[in-house]
Amino acid sequence: MTMREEIEAAAARYPSRRSAIMPALLIAQKEHGHLPGAVLEEVADILGVERIWVYELATFYTLFHTEPVGRFHLQLCDNVSCMLCGAEDLLRYLEAVLGTEKGETTPDGLFTLSTVECLGACEVAPVMQVGDDYHGNLDIARLEALLESLRAMAGQAVSAEPAPQPSAGE
Ligand code: FES
Repeated sequence: MTMREEIEAAAARYPSRRSAIMPALLIAQKEHGHLPGAVLEEVADILGVERIWVYELATFYTLFHTEPVGRFHLQLCDNVSCMLCGAEDLLRYLEAVLGTEKGETTPDGLFTLSTVECLGACEVAPVMQVGDDYHGNLDIARLEALLESLRAMAGQAVSAEPAPQPSAGE
């Protein structure tokens, strides 16, 4: 099914074309990876709605990306509950270990680091969303393990440290 067909099918489930902007943006983002201006305009044209309505939603919600993001988008919540539970330390750790600041993508394109508003999971603060998954009760050790598993998933070196070499005779 083409993007246009998927958007048309989604729009058919809503009482008005404007109500289908959110699902249409999700479909477009899945197709293109992010939502540059030309894609936003295409979505507006498919739905036959004002382009400004599409721009408003795409730039308001953090789940939509108008700029390219890395393979893994690390979205760390820095609202009150998470901040009180150590989110600032986690952010400093991530910036140091990734060599990037929030809002940036690592040069290898693997990680984009962002801070976001409350993810609605304060009971397991501090929380970070990676793609569609939530990771709660984070501390430095858990974050380290998470990054390691994401790197492994990407087929990259798990650690910058050289792997221990077997000693002679093993
Ligand atoms: S404040 Fe972080 S999930 Fe609510």
